[in-house]
Amino acid sequence: MEKTNREGFASNFGFIMAAVGSAVGLGNIWGFPYKMGMNGGFAFLLIYLVLAIFIGIAVMVGELVIGRKTGLSPIAAYRKLSKKFTFLGYMALACPFLILCFYMVLGGMVMRYACGYLLAMFGVDTWGVADISTYFGVFTTNGTSMVIWTLIFIVINAVIVAAGIGGGIEKFCNIGMPCLFVILLIVIVYVAVQPGAMGGYQFMFGFNIEPLKTDFLTVLKTAAGQMFFSLSLGMGAIITYGSYLNKKEKIQKNAVIIVVMDTLVAIMAGMIVMPACYAFLDGNTKGGPGLLFQSMQMVFHNMGGFIGNLMGFLFYFLVFIAAISSSMSLLEALTSSRVDRNVEAGKAPNRRKIVIVFAILVAIFALPNALDGIGAGVAGGATLPTPAELFGMTDAVKGWNDCWLDFYDMLSEGILMPVGAMIMAFAIGWIWKMDFVVEECESSGCKFWGKAFFNICYKFITPIGMLVVLYGQITSYFF
Ligand code: TRP
Repeated sequence: MEKTNREGFASNFGFIMAAVGSAVGLGNIWGFPYKMGMNGGFAFLLIYLVLAIFIGIAVMVGELVIGRKTGLSPIAAYRKLSKKFTFLGYMALACPFLILCFYMVLGGMVMRYACGYLLAMFGVDTWGVADISTYFGVFTTNGTSMVIWTLIFIVINAVIVAAGIGGGIEKFCNIGMPCLFVILLIVIVYVAVQPGAMGGYQFMFGFNIEPLKTDFLTVLKTAAGQMFFSLSLGMGAIITYGSYLNKKEKIQKNAVIIVVMDTLVAIMAGMIVMPACYAFLDGNTKGGPGLLFQSMQMVFHNMGGFIGNLMGFLFYFLVFIAAISSSMSLLEALTSSRVDRNVEAGKAPNRRKIVIVFAILVAIFALPNALDGIGAGVAGGATLPTPAELFGMTDAVKGWNDCWLDFYDMLSEGILMPVGAMIMAFAIGWIWKMDFVVEECESSGCKFWGKAFFNICYKFITPIGMLVVLYGQITSYFF
């Protein structure tokens, strides 16, 4: 089928920037450093790299192939490949929807932080200057402000996605991504020259695999989940972007570039956060999910004065660019599925209307995440109870019931994503077979490399790896 009715990326650079924009997000700048901080630094990095090379690249190629070969978004794409797998397409949409419901809330918070520091630079806001130890709690339990910032973030997303692939997403990422790299470098350099920063590099790059000996499965499972999330794999976003990719472009080369850039940004974010923890927080890297907000706010507070506010602004502005370029890929995955349906049925695409409907749905389902004080719950002064409070499970904190964000995350990142990736790799390896992948990659006129390696990846490494991850997740959630 020809992709006549479909607009696409104007250039391969634009495609790469958009795909990197999708990949580089809160996962890199928030998730990666905090998970590394809690899972042994170097040991985590090592496992992450192995997984990205042995699983990430192959799955990325697989998704781009499915997208480009069919020229369709996930549901229609899977249906076209085989009716039996249509359900994978639906899973690949449930997942971005759930992720968006918490991603938008976090994005809104990041925006609030960026604005706070910007205003503080000019003395208009007391952000990060007043009593900082209680700031996070006061802010997150203020339901009105959480909801307003979430809505602002959703509206910005909707405006960009409504403008389409070439006109909205690509334009934003073409400017946003290079900016992000420059700001990353500025903040890295500033942190590097602070006394005590060395400890952070030692923690990240000093050879130490002790943590693997004590808890290999935890490190493996955390790194694998992180890798999938960070690369935007396992749920339709990359299939969607692949469907807009020009036939001339080389899929394998693009996949490698995306994986390398994403990993690079994760490591660079680590090179801000870890040394900063050593220079300003006495080496406490175990801030957990609060690392991005509480620990980093403390870092900029301890830097102090104008420079602290300036660095704070630059840092959160960077996180903002990263977050929004990711959330728009999720919104695009949802949107394009409906657009394709309209086009299939011979109707007008109606992109704008679809974006508005999804934005409203996301806003509604995001409410629990915005209103439970990110886990503070009614006990902590928030408007809504946490899942644990709601179900009366106060003595059994399981990593999914302590806040609604973790609940949504459990369903999406924890379960749907590994299941989706497992079945997809299995289908490529055993049902559609390698030639399916090779043919599409070679259609741009270049030779496919590493056929045996990719084959083993689809047939064995990815399905088995995902099974192990799923086992690890389910036992940690429910037992
Ligand atoms: N990769 C993004 C991050 O690191 C999040 C994201 C965007 C995502 N699109 C996705 C995750 C699709 C899974 C699937 O923050």
